[in-house]
Amino acid sequence: MRLKEKISRTGDIPVMEPQRQFYFMELAKQYVEKLSEEKGRPLTFCVNTFGCQMNARDSEKLCGILENIGYVETDSENADFVIYNTCTVRENANNKVYGRLGYLSGFKKRNPDMLIALCGCMMQEETVVEKLKQSYRYVDLIFGTHNIYKFAELIVQCLESDSMVIDIWKDTDQIVEDLPVDRKYSFKSGVNIMFGCNNFCSYCIVPYVRGRERSRKPQDIIREIEKLVADGVVEVMLLGQNVNSYGKNLEEPMSFAKLLQEVEKIEGLERIRFMTSHPKDLSDELIEVMKQSKKICRHLHLPLQSGSSRILQQMNRHYDKEQYLALVQKLRAAIPDIALTTDIIVGFPGETEEDFLETMDVVEKVRYDSAFTFIYSKRTGTPAATMPDQVPEDIIKDRFDRLLARVQQISAEKAGALTGQICDVLIEEKNGQDESLVTGRLSNNSVVHVKGDESLIGKIVPVHLQECKGFYYLGEVVNES
Ligand code: 5AD
Ligand code: SF4
Repeated sequence: MRLKEKISRTGDIPVMEPQRQFYFMELAKQYVEKLSEEKGRPLTFCVNTFGCQMNARDSEKLCGILENIGYVETDSENADFVIYNTCTVRENANNKVYGRLGYLSGFKKRNPDMLIALCGCMMQEETVVEKLKQSYRYVDLIFGTHNIYKFAELIVQCLESDSMVIDIWKDTDQIVEDLPVDRKYSFKSGVNIMFGCNNFCSYCIVPYVRGRERSRKPQDIIREIEKLVADGVVEVMLLGQNVNSYGKNLEEPMSFAKLLQEVEKIEGLERIRFMTSHPKDLSDELIEVMKQSKKICRHLHLPLQSGSSRILQQMNRHYDKEQYLALVQKLRAAIPDIALTTDIIVGFPGETEEDFLETMDVVEKVRYDSAFTFIYSKRTGTPAATMPDQVPEDIIKDRFDRLLARVQQISAEKAGALTGQICDVLIEEKNGQDESLVTGRLSNNSVVHVKGDESLIGKIVPVHLQECKGFYYLGEVVNES
């Protein structure tokens, strides 16, 4: 056991969630109190998040539980409890975790009571857990994406055991509501509307590690947002791997567009964002709702992945180049000021120079405000991993460089389109470089640096966009009087 003595439990352990977790939080609290008394100082924790916004939101849940049981947050990984919330979408994300684990072991040698936990998508891969069991014995706790809500219970289990605690589930249909969350920002928040993915794009590991699609009930989502708004939140980002298929598996099915209309009604909420939209499921109803909305931001992230219809079919994306371009046209006709961003993969198996030029052609035609470009990464277990004609590295690198250069050139040309206008900016943070500035975002997600101080953080203010410097604006708050 990692502790000198076990605390005796009082009462029955609740079977129902979230009551069961609150029971374990109470128990964990007693352990943490005892340990910090022994050490004569508070116990510290550090959560390191890899990957997407889903993981960032999950980490806020982990922080909420750790704070609830008495740990104090620190930026340093030289802490009493370090947890890595991992990503596995590309191979280099995995390598980063192994590298950093080696470095953590140095801290643990000096602080043997330190607890190291790993969770998130990478832990859902059997080969990863095997490798950790073999070569990283100093890891204390491993859990996956489906049982994150059980964190308090797992911490207690870990403190009461002296071997590695591993709890990975293959899938789940459970969604546990109402656990503590520690938000990174006081004025904006991610809100999960669904978990998992049913699309099985042939290159992607997400459906295997995040399980099947499950939507939260609209009442639960609305209630959470209402509470957030009462707590000072003005912007929410609705999160799901494919938000456009929200609600299909609910007892009373509901479309994503309808959900957005309900969210729009919440008084005090100023801005709504969402992520990610699969082009195959983006409905006319959604475009109409966005067009009419006063709160939905003028930004859409619409992953292209490839511009070649042949490759898109191999990718199992269920749209072709022409359909994608038609969708963009429809969106721009309805909402002319919408900013479009995308994800593109270069070097999918079998991609020829002609296929790549089709991708370049879409980039040329759509002119994205920005694009995330990725080199194809082979994920074991996905259909693409065993496809013939994996593209040689040097060819991929050359295509990647050409794509990135063009994407950046277009972004630079497009930035600054709003120069001279007065636009609302949500001020988010102090500027890291210049003390006299604070930084925020426009509805279309562009970054704006504004003269002002911390008192503006969390406020939406009208700003005169005076100048565009590369990828951001410089502006001044306009006094409304
Ligand atoms: N290789 C490279 N990029 C990938 N993505 C997903 N899987 C892979 C992979 N195997 C990219 C997609 C997706 C984004 C989140 O990550 O572009 O939209
Ligand atoms: Fe992966 Fe495709 Fe699901 Fe996105 S929609 S998470 S790319 S399988």
